[in-house]
Amino acid sequence: MKNTYQIAIDGPAGAGKSTIAKAIARRLGILYVDTGAMYRAIAYKANTLNLPLDQEQTISDMAWNTDIVLKNGEDERVLCDGKDVTEEIRSPEVTRAVSIIAAYPKVRERLVAIQRRKAQEKSVVMDGRDIGTYVLPQADLKIFLTASLEERSKRRWLELQQRGKKQSLESVQEDIINRDRLDRERKVSPLVPADDAYILDTTGLSIEEIVEDIVNNLKTKVNL
Ligand code: DC
Repeated sequence: MKNTYQIAIDGPAGAGKSTIAKAIARRLGILYVDTGAMYRAIAYKANTLNLPLDQEQTISDMAWNTDIVLKNGEDERVLCDGKDVTEEIRSPEVTRAVSIIAAYPKVRERLVAIQRRKAQEKSVVMDGRDIGTYVLPQADLKIFLTASLEERSKRRWLELQQRGKKQSLESVQEDIINRDRLDRERKVSPLVPADDAYILDTTGLSIEEIVEDIVNNLKTKVNL
């Protein structure tokens, strides 16, 4: 019998994917892979180098020459070419750039290869936009997390406030609408629930309730 398992969590921006995925990883003692952080690291590097975001070839070449490491521990850290960029990748500038570079097939190819390699190491919960549909199509449990636009915007806004980043709620909501549209409409690996995904609307639910629901669901599929 298999002794490792994979959980895929997808959904639109602000649905609570990373909060939930982290809580599940802690509860089950498994690996957490934040794939959005990897796309963000590439967007951050493009901005830092002043690369034009619409130059697909330039951005793709850069992605293939970039070393990205996700470190699991007390808190997750993201290293880009050896530099800790965990805080920098959450800025509004990176958030605006990321959906543009995430639409480039060569960028995705590079990051998906790293993601699949990580999933070989041990049991994993991975969050993103295409995990259940493309990165881990054989995942034991696929969750598609959603929440109302208002709730998602408020969560992101609160998160930014806590980080000391000033952005109005309206502007956060606008960014979310734009990003979701780009993520849903892109040609490669668009944001869409896998056919066999469990759709979970988190509006009004607590983190504990959501984690409980997912773990109970997992128990019907694998021996924990
Ligand atoms: O989850 P996040 O907000 O950190 O993701 C940042 C962006 O990266 C998101 O707008 C779309 C892109 N992304 C993606 O295209 N595929 C993934 N698996 C994860 C993120």
